[in-house]
Amino acid sequence: MSCQSIDAKFQLPQRYQGQIQSFWDEYIQLTLKYKPMNLGLGFTDGPVPQYITDALAAAAKSPNSIVNQYTRGSGHPRLIQALSTLYSQLVDRKIDPINEMLITIGAYEALYATIQGHVDEGDEVIIIEPFFECYEPMVKICGGVPRFIPLRLNNTTTSSNSEINSSDYVLDDGELEGLFNEKTKMIILNTPNNPLGKVFSRIELTKIAELCQKYNVLCVSDEVYEWMIFDDNKHIRICTLPGMWERTITIGSAGKTFSVTGWKTGWAYGPANLIINLKMVHQNCVYNCPTPIQEAIAIIFEGEIKRLDSPACYFNVLAAELKKKRDFMAEFLNENGMKPIIPQGGFFMTANWSALENKADLSTELDTQQDFRFTKWMIKNVGVLAMPPSAFFSDTNKSMMEHFVRYCFFKTDENLQTAANILKEWTGKVMTIRQNCLPAPPNDSI
Ligand SMILES: Cc1ncc(COP(=O)(O)O)c(C=O)c1O
Repeated sequence: MSCQSIDAKFQLPQRYQGQIQSFWDEYIQLTLKYKPMNLGLGFTDGPVPQYITDALAAAAKSPNSIVNQYTRGSGHPRLIQALSTLYSQLVDRKIDPINEMLITIGAYEALYATIQGHVDEGDEVIIIEPFFECYEPMVKICGGVPRFIPLRLNNTTTSSNSEINSSDYVLDDGELEGLFNEKTKMIILNTPNNPLGKVFSRIELTKIAELCQKYNVLCVSDEVYEWMIFDDNKHIRICTLPGMWERTITIGSAGKTFSVTGWKTGWAYGPANLIINLKMVHQNCVYNCPTPIQEAIAIIFEGEIKRLDSPACYFNVLAAELKKKRDFMAEFLNENGMKPIIPQGGFFMTANWSALENKADLSTELDTQQDFRFTKWMIKNVGVLAMPPSAFFSDTNKSMMEHFVRYCFFKTDENLQTAANILKEWTGKVMTIRQNCLPAPPNDSI
């Protein structure tokens, strides 16, 4: 009998080794300690419309007590029905709710099930940078090989004074095609993109679609910000392009759609022969998602579907509200010397802080990346939380946005105004030290 020590025997399995702890944990700890104005994390700090929370209460109190028990494993019947009604209209084909849809614990689990359900040892997965940071570890855990391609600032955006828009960040077609080969299994697309807010155009999506078909590649389209689109931009679902339904898994999130990220409910839809692979993963880790939350989301969707074209539909209300917040944030960042990239969609804004570098003492922070130093220094000394965009890049390209921060503008007008005031106070002074000087957020959950 072997007598391995406990340490030797109970190490993290090989497939998880090399993964680093998520950087969010450290920022959450810093937030709890310094209580900065939280423009970091991706959710609203304001109230959610009452009919949304009422739907959850109604579901839990339903006289049909079955609503509080286990439901169908791959999706509560009422929710898959509502989603199939909605997306069948949006993608202009009848989506079979039973076989072409899976409900998951947030879009996060949908991503996990899609990647686990398709990527094998040695498969290559193309990831567009900047990217939602779980894509890379999820691919590696399967033995997959991530191949990164960054969105780069278009050469024609030359004047240093002109406003930069997220549409100015583009893929190089040659570089993209160069990543495709016979080992390529998947490409992960995120539109609108977190953190840039880029909404991929039809021309850009068509190029990706052509390559997916040429090299027989699966497209995973993370569309959790699909309803937050500004100006004349249009959200195009890549699964609607010719020849793409057969090879696309589209992912959505009720948490993002209805501003209730704590409800952690998402979905994936696509052709039955691909969705069945996700179901296998889901069945062996989660099995089924909470019934009352799915019932509530179904109730809310049923209401919105009836008024999709009305300005009162939550999707339209939200986009209009966010656009105002986006514009206000862009204005106060500009006024304070940060150069924002104006997002076409989503609720994040990245901004270049190079002009303020001399106002921060970054030598007090030990991180390699400048944006990690800057954001930590800001939390401790100014009292505003931002996220470091280099966390959304591969090791090779981390320096690309090292002089940027990512702010979330889905905050109450009062809190955005307070953030603007804090920044003004800071940029107006030679150097201020503010520690623990802000009131705590309504509760300590972040
Ligand atoms: C691009 C992207 N995909 C997926 C998710 C996860 O969504 P959910 O909270 O529904 O799991 C997020 C959350 O921030 C995100 O930004």
